[in-house]
Formats: sequence, C-alpha cells, structure tokens
Amino acid sequence: MQELLDHLDSSPSPWHAAQTAADRLGTAGFSELAETEPWASPPSAGFTRRGAALVAWRLADGRPNAIRIVGAHTDSPCLRVHPHADQGVANWRLLGVEVYGGVLLNSWLDRDLGIAGRVVADDGTSTLVDIREPVARVPQLAIHLDREVNDRGLVLDRHVQLRPVWATGGLPSAADFAVWLGERAGAAPAFWDLCLYDVQPAAVLGADRSLISSGRLDNQVSCWAAISALVDAEPGPQVSVAALFDHEEVGSGSISGASGPLLADVLERLLAGSGVSSVDDVRRVFASSSCVSADNAHAIHPNYAERHDPSHAPLVNHGPAIKVNANQRYATDPATAALFRSCCEKAGVPVQTFVARNNLPCGSTIGPLTATRLGIATVDVGVPQLSMHSARELCGAADPVHLVAALAAYWS
Ligand code: CO
Repeated sequence: MQELLDHLDSSPSPWHAAQTAADRLGTAGFSELAETEPWASPPSAGFTRRGAALVAWRLADGRPNAIRIVGAHTDSPCLRVHPHADQGVANWRLLGVEVYGGVLLNSWLDRDLGIAGRVVADDGTSTLVDIREPVARVPQLAIHLDREVNDRGLVLDRHVQLRPVWATGGLPSAADFAVWLGERAGAAPAFWDLCLYDVQPAAVLGADRSLISSGRLDNQVSCWAAISALVDAEPGPQVSVAALFDHEEVGSGSISGASGPLLADVLERLLAGSGVSSVDDVRRVFASSSCVSADNAHAIHPNYAERHDPSHAPLVNHGPAIKVNANQRYATDPATAALFRSCCEKAGVPVQTFVARNNLPCGSTIGPLTATRLGIATVDVGVPQLSMHSARELCGAADPVHLVAALAAYWS
C-alpha cells in the first residue's frame, strides 16, 4: 500500500509519472534505450520514453509467438500554467491557466496547490521540476457574495474564475513567474509544461482503512499496477509490454498518445530485434497478440446509485471491472473479456462487469484507439473509483492490488 501511495505522490505531472515508472524499472534491472539509438539487439528487459509516455518490455525467452500488452495513461485532468502567466488584480498576483482535459472544476477551489512539470531552456535542455509547497490557490467566492450558489449550482467562467492567486503586492511585471520558476528549478526556462496539483499527500481513508484518497488515481493506479506486474513477470514465449501513453485525457492524438505511432514503432523494433521481421511473421505475431487497456472505472456512487445500471454497477474492493460497450467506446469483445476473467480466476481475485446506462454518455479509453491502430484484440478493464477527474479521487484499497495480481497472471 505504501508503495502505491509513494507512486501517487511522486507523480504530480505526466513527466513525473514517466520518471517514477522509469526509476522503478531501473531499480529492477530494466535498461533504458533511446529511440535515437540502434535497436538491433534490444535488452531483454528494457524501456524507452517519448515525452511523458513510456513503453517497457520483457522479451520472450526465444523467438516470440505473441505480444501481451498492458496499456494505461500518464496524464490526468488539471490546470496548466500559461506561457505568459503573470496577471494582477488590485494587489493580488494571479497565474493565467489553461484547463487540461475534463476537469471537475469545482474540485480545484480552495486547495493548496503546488506546481510540477518540466521546464525547457533555450538550448532544449529539459528539467523536471516539482515545487511541493502550497504556492497557489483558486479562492472560492464567499457565500455572502453569492447567496443562491447552493440552490442554483456553481457555474465557473473557466477563463477568469479559475485563476489562482500565488502572491500579493504590487502589480506583477511580465516575467515575475518565469524568474521565480528559474530560481526554484535551477534552470532558466524558455518554455514549460507545468501542472498545478493538490499538495495534500495520498492517504488511506475510512475507519476500516479500506479506501485510498489521492489526486490522479485515474490513471496512476493502472500505471503503478502495470509496472509492478511487469517488474515481477518471468520471461515466457511471448513479449510482455507495458505502454503508458500521454494525452489520453485530451483525445490521444499526439506523438506520445495512443493514436500516434509510438507503440507500433516500439513493437516493430522489438520484433525485428528478436528475429521477427518479415511482414508475414509480424502479422502472424500481431494476430496472436492481445492488449489489456487498464483505466479506472466508475464505482456505484452511494448518493447517485440511479446513475448505474443495477446489473453492471461495480463495487469498490470487489476487483477490477471489465468494461463493455457495444458501440465500441470500449474495445472489449467476448473473447478478450473471457481471457481477462480467466486471468483473474487464475490469480484468485474477484472481477466485475461495467456497462454504462443507455441514457448517459459512455467515456472511452486508449483501448479502442490501440485496437484500431494495431488490429490487436483488446479488453478494457479498470479499478472502480468515485470522483473521477476531481483534484482528489477515491478508490478501494484492495482493488489496485487485485489489478496487479490479474496483470501478473496475464503475463504468466
Ligand atoms: Co483515465
């Protein structure tokens, strides 16, 4: 449990999530291979990074007959700091921010926020920065100045009313934030990718300690589970691959997203390095392969139980849910669902099934995108949680461990 809490706290941005995974893999003996290097004989346990995406592998113990992929994503909805961030009103100093992904806006109000991400210097050098201190806050309007808010509901102007205060004093100059950031990061920033995040650490919650409360459970739980299972996997007749993509929360269309060429590039190079290079051989391996797309699911909410179909409403701490959608918002088919359920049975963990109500829009994942790009049969699964896309989410304490066991069985 502590390992998962540490993973969550050390991954406040997608670049940190990739670094956390890289550190864990490095400790377990995996070697990093840059995409710019030759891959003629890739390490039997290795990984590569592109931006905030990471693909790790354990090669087969001979010529591979299949690939078994677990996919997840490193990004989470948040507020991103503008390139020209400095703003001021009265004697307040504010940061301009851009909303990244489907943020549950109200959850960002009145939280003590730190700043994490990467700064890039003029020469292209990139430095990770994590300012884990309460330096910013989006202050909510007092109820005395908005008497109807509780009855009418909170509506926020996302350009004006989500700006955090980060200092007081005279009006800012145009480069105050950049100067401060340069001092804190120890590097002169030309540009940056910076996320605001809640500095409150991940915690075990409940009188029975049965829950986990943290930012970014979607989808760091799946990233942690995939890397944990891969580290312990034994080489077998197939290649085991964990693919952690960026940009899932904004549609996956990027060089490091699931709609981009990253995974196909890596798989082709790994197969070629394992002696599988003819089109016929590569296609035969792909046709025998499968993918588990792991992304958190919606647990039934006690105060909104009517938002679920009663026969397909996942419970917390009852195991990962297999997500089914006939309209292909999830890539699960009966054969891949059966494969994943057999892995859960083999691992001795419970498993559930989720289907969205017909009158509610269904979310999606990297599953259908990966399946569409590669033509590899895929199952969508995920740990059930509440408060998805809140600055602070909630899931069961047992389910992440169940997911590790199920993925380990998949790779064995
Ligand atoms: Co997600």
